Amino acid sequence: MSIIDWSPAYTVNNAALDAQHQEIFSIINELHSSLLSHDKRQDAFAVAIRELLEHARMHFADEERQMLAVNYPDLREHQAAHAELIRKALEIEKRPKETSESIGPELLGFLIIEWVVMHILVDDKKFAPYLKH
Ligand SMILES: [Fe+2]
Ligand SMILES: [Fe+2]
Repeated sequence: MSIIDWSPAYTVNNAALDAQHQEIFSIINELHSSLLSHDKRQDAFAVAIRELLEHARMHFADEERQMLAVNYPDLREHQAAHAELIRKALEIEKRPKETSESIGPELLGFLIIEWVVMHILVDDKKFAPYLKH
């Protein structure tokens, strides 16, 4: 059971970037299923954060390259938003191991609210008209 599904309404008018966004939804759904199963909380968190950081570094660089190519006027603000998402993910990753039971749900909330709802659906969506042919 997925907690969050990508919809064509979320498109940024670029197939590669849309596919990368869909990967974030997969990471969230995998983390959610692992948390529901209760047995591997620490592992689920570690796997999700590793996948997330690996994915984000590649995706953010790709997105910023596309923005530069079309002279996107909010590129600097967008780069700052990307840096802030990475900073928060690293901050969650560095929490002491004793608190790892609560990190999974916190990471899930951060990914759904700040990463998907506020970043992909608001900030990235503002870029979509610039990719329209
Ligand atoms: Fe994005
Ligand atoms: Fe972005």
